Amino acid sequence: MSNLSNPEGARVYLETYGCQMNIADSQTVAVVLRRAGYARAESPEDADVILLNTCAIREHAEERVLGRLSDLARLKQRRPALKLGLLGCMAQHNRAALIDKAPWVDVVAGPDSYRRLPELLGREGFDPAVDVRLDRAETYADIPPEHDSAVRAYVTVMRGCDKFCAFCVVPYVRGRERSIPPNDILREVRELAADGVREVVLLGQTVNAYRCAEVDFGGLLRLIAQIDGIERIRFTSPHPSDMSDSLIEAMASEPKVQPYLHLPVQSGSDRMLAAMDRGYTVEQYLRLVERLRAAIPELALSTDIIVGFHGEEESDFDATLALMRAVRYDHAFTFKYSVREHTRAFKLGDSVSEDEKSRRLSAVIALQEQISLARNRATIGREFPVLVEGAARRGEGKLAGKTPQFKTAVFGAQEDARPGAMVRVRVESATAHSLIGTLAAT
Ligand code: 5AD
Ligand code: SF4
Repeated sequence: MSNLSNPEGARVYLETYGCQMNIADSQTVAVVLRRAGYARAESPEDADVILLNTCAIREHAEERVLGRLSDLARLKQRRPALKLGLLGCMAQHNRAALIDKAPWVDVVAGPDSYRRLPELLGREGFDPAVDVRLDRAETYADIPPEHDSAVRAYVTVMRGCDKFCAFCVVPYVRGRERSIPPNDILREVRELAADGVREVVLLGQTVNAYRCAEVDFGGLLRLIAQIDGIERIRFTSPHPSDMSDSLIEAMASEPKVQPYLHLPVQSGSDRMLAAMDRGYTVEQYLRLVERLRAAIPELALSTDIIVGFHGEEESDFDATLALMRAVRYDHAFTFKYSVREHTRAFKLGDSVSEDEKSRRLSAVIALQEQISLARNRATIGREFPVLVEGAARRGEGKLAGKTPQFKTAVFGAQEDARPGAMVRVRVESATAHSLIGTLAAT
């Protein structure tokens, strides 16, 4: 992207950390800056402005960004005119400490301040330009983001979170829940379909809490399913407490809505779930899984699990392993608890040692590997429709794409199997992370 109408020709390099929401936000930032006359730089060395869009969910994420900021400080020493900006959740979370640790940063902007970035970047002065106002109304609905994948695109449908789980910083850094009007979403998805996008992933911190007047999340899925050209619809991340009948109905009856659900459980212990303020018990969660599997027989499930939350005893941890064995997830994202300032759990402390957290983490990973492998092996001999994405990461000349269940399928390339094509793949072998197969006759 170059923009010759920019009299100064300033080039921006944008680096993104963290979740899909941040990737989508960076696409919005790219549009805001392009409209203001900035051009895109291909590398940090090439840039007049470097922006880091950051994540605050765990301490480790923040440490990575601080490390990167020290590297960039050296670049700035050589080129004092270079502007450095920090965007996103970390900017919102701990701006004072951040400016203390990295005083060479020129701009600090939270997730609701991207519209004002050109103005913040234009400010001159010794102190950083800071804008971390949270805005209950900001949805960027009028700024269609720049999408870079031709096959799959991410579409933000709601922002913020009202759940306030005790461990989580998101409600503090991303502010209150707000949904984008269906008409804006439908317009964006229609444009994507016209551009050749075949799959949309609807994004929101608690995406199934979506509601705009009469349209709930199930209703939104039904509306999007009517758009020609879009063949697959996915969404992430739903909260178990918002899995309404309307949503389950829409998943069961709309063929375009894919049979895959990321359903974060966090813990298999009722005591921990209560301490975490998750709003459900193990039994309620298991009943929900049963209802989902009854309604959507081909459903694949993944989850998020935190080990070592404050107060987690061996028996609580065993309960998490038991829940994993009961549900048999296809995949799990597993994390060591990380104490976050501002959250409700911050005051409680951190009772599980780092070594013990590591041990528990290794145990959940090992168990999940076994389960994933068994579940993937169970697909050997079956055929799945696969939306071709491009070259496989490993494997000479092979292509990769996802099955409806969001499993990666790897298969031999053929003339007609171009990115965006829907092919049928017959599974011949499997690892814990992918299915390996051949193209089947269509
Ligand atoms: N420590 C560890 N993991 C966390 N998550 C959220 N907050 C924390 C924290 N403080 C995890 C949860 C959530 C996922 C996005 O990140 O599992 O679902
Ligand atoms: Fe964080 Fe809980 Fe909101 Fe998810 S639902 S973003 S874990 S507060």
